[in-house]
Amino acid sequence: MEKNKFSSRLGFVMAVAGSAVGLGNIWRFPYLAAKYGGGTFLVVYIALALTVGFTLLVSETAIGRLTGAPSPIKAYRQLNAGELKFGGYINALVPILILPYYSAIGGWVLKYFYEYLTGNHQNLVAPDYFSEFIASPIQPLLFLLVFTSICYLIITRGVKDGVEKMSLILMPILIVLAIFISGYTLTTPGAFEGVKYYLSIKPEYFTISTVVAALGQIFYSLSIGMGILITFGSYMDKKDNLEASIGQIEIMDTLIAFLAGMMIIPAVFAFSNGANVAAGPSLMFITLPQVFTSMAYGNIIGLVFFLLVFFAALTSAVSLYEANIAIVEEVFKTNRKKANHLLFGWTGGIGALVALGFNKLSFVSLAGMSILDILDFVTNSIFMPLGAICTVLLIVFVVKVDKIVAEVKISSKFRREKIYRFLVRYIAAPALIIIMISFILATFNIISI
Ligand code: TRP
Repeated sequence: MEKNKFSSRLGFVMAVAGSAVGLGNIWRFPYLAAKYGGGTFLVVYIALALTVGFTLLVSETAIGRLTGAPSPIKAYRQLNAGELKFGGYINALVPILILPYYSAIGGWVLKYFYEYLTGNHQNLVAPDYFSEFIASPIQPLLFLLVFTSICYLIITRGVKDGVEKMSLILMPILIVLAIFISGYTLTTPGAFEGVKYYLSIKPEYFTISTVVAALGQIFYSLSIGMGILITFGSYMDKKDNLEASIGQIEIMDTLIAFLAGMMIIPAVFAFSNGANVAAGPSLMFITLPQVFTSMAYGNIIGLVFFLLVFFAALTSAVSLYEANIAIVEEVFKTNRKKANHLLFGWTGGIGALVALGFNKLSFVSLAGMSILDILDFVTNSIFMPLGAICTVLLIVFVVKVDKIVAEVKISSKFRREKIYRFLVRYIAAPALIIIMISFILATFNIISI
């Protein structure tokens, strides 16, 4: 058995699910669901995940397994991408740019977990605690260093003993913790109104904005368009059922997002009598600690919650790291060990710039965005859709859809073959173009989604 392959299908499923289930599921999904009409958003999200999301997951994984090339650059080259060759580089650039800022946020999560662990969580509810923490000079760097060191150590152990083992242990724990917290928040007084809001389907919310927001979230949440699945597909055994694995990954990612909504929306409703659930960092680092403080046993729930978020962030960061290893090995013609050192320096260095973006470097900004927001914008609104479009074009015009279908069929029947063929040919690329344009316009406040 090779050290740098997955040892089992379950290992592959858990590792990809580990990459997919991350901060996006926990802090972004509940916010979007609350904003776009609860049940309405859920229905649109699930429908798009099973169609467009499925199509891109299968496409990227099949390219990885077909070529056996862990880096998208190599995979594109092997497939004679010709003029589309730059697509391989774009797919490679995304995880390289995401890892540092994702790790900086991972550090924040670790800090909050630490405060609950040491019993100092009362401090967290002070109104300016979060903004003062991220603007402080030392602590964010320290926690970034700890977070990155943990990733580094896991990567040192290789794919099978590092990435796969970590996912096999942490993902089941994560699911249990999510069920536990959502079960508990449902019992808090006033939570029922939130559940009703979250699950009821409101026809007036079926709009273009809801579809665009759901599509964008699907790509981010399933880690599509950034080479991760090409890397992990290349570590997959030809015998392992590709279609079933992808199905299970989708179920797990959607389940955790759904449970995150179940944990957060009713609790926030009960706390603020139905006031809007705030977005992003302020939800996780400001509102939730306040909500937990108002609950019985809130100190324990807060501790468990931040442990869960930490596991979600860690498995995602490690898979980003792993994809980057493949890329650095390829580009610098080096070995895994040296690539690991380089990436540790890169993540620490650029992550530090991201952290200092709230302190000494706060003068660096573009259209009001911090360094973190700039990286997030460039990766998710521009490179991610562009990389995914290149992959779709590569399949339709160069590799040909038949070859991808044949790759899937090596390991099983392809039950969703017809829908796959249709979507990859006619729907995937236009959907990606719509996301890209909408996200760019929204960032510059030309439209709002
Ligand atoms: N899917 C992750 C989440 O939901 C975030 C993410 C985006 C990611 N792209 C990625 C994680 C690539 C790992 C690899 O938070």
